[in-house]
Amino acid sequence: MYILKSKYEVSDFVSMFRSNSKTIGFVPTMGALHKGHIALIYKSLEECDICIASIFVNPTQFNNPDDLEKYPRTEAADFAMLEQAGCHAVFFPSVLEMYPEPDTRVFEFDGLDAVMEGAFRPGHFNGVAQVVSKLFDAVRPNKAFFGQKDFQQLAVIRFITKKYLAELNIEIVACETVRESDGLAMSSRNVRLTPECRHAAADISRILVWVKSHFTSKSVEEIHKFVQTEFAKQPLLHLEYFEIADNDTLTSITEGKILTGRFTACIAAYAGDVRLIDNMPL
Ligand code: PAJ
Repeated sequence: MYILKSKYEVSDFVSMFRSNSKTIGFVPTMGALHKGHIALIYKSLEECDICIASIFVNPTQFNNPDDLEKYPRTEAADFAMLEQAGCHAVFFPSVLEMYPEPDTRVFEFDGLDAVMEGAFRPGHFNGVAQVVSKLFDAVRPNKAFFGQKDFQQLAVIRFITKKYLAELNIEIVACETVRESDGLAMSSRNVRLTPECRHAAADISRILVWVKSHFTSKSVEEIHKFVQTEFAKQPLLHLEYFEIADNDTLTSITEGKILTGRFTACIAAYAGDVRLIDNMPL
């Protein structure tokens, strides 16, 4: 597996294959890789000839400096996992390589950033858009692979790919959330959970499973009440938000019955001091 550190090396690598009519699949990550990330690599290898991953802890998408500082960095293990999965190259740039000067671009998301992660993490999606646009421009893949785990990020990336990056002609492919055996969605942040919080965190997906199996028989108000009550029972978890969001517009449904399947139940919660997100399509 090639380890590429500059945008120049990446475009050189990619153009060599593109001139031989090979298709390029791209999996952007912030490292601290787990099976959820590797599932994206497998999907890319299934659908494209060449797979490139990137590992870059993007400072502009962290609204909390402590979260950025504590973000796990495990490059050696990451490279080994990527190589074992069959990934052909990894782009592993420095902050200076990605941001030789401050990025002052402000993206517009047609309201997709006004709710949930966008509301609780101001500036987060602008930072994601900054780095993803730079990465897409460097790699210029045929397809890019993202996890459903970050449901709102996926919507934002689909949107900016159409609105700002249409000339790159990149297809966005969504991949299902990979979970631990007790249901906890895999996340790079899970390693920071204490054993007690790790145990409690499994309740998040259990609650989402309950919502999925009751949304046709209960009202949205009853569902919200259930979720609040379950979180109140668990002192190690603190619910930040629970929303039932429209898959396209992300607007929340707050009352009545859900009649169609075009919604996703979304949760952000703290387990101790670790912020976790999860969701389940209804
Ligand atoms: P990161 O959190 O490292 O996630 C990289 C990709 O892996 C994202 O598409 C995410 O949705 C996916 N992923 C994470 N956990 C997953 C799971 N349990 N199952 C399936 N897919 C999972 O998301 C980012 O990095 C960054 O915001 C990035 C897009 C790289 C921009 O910096």
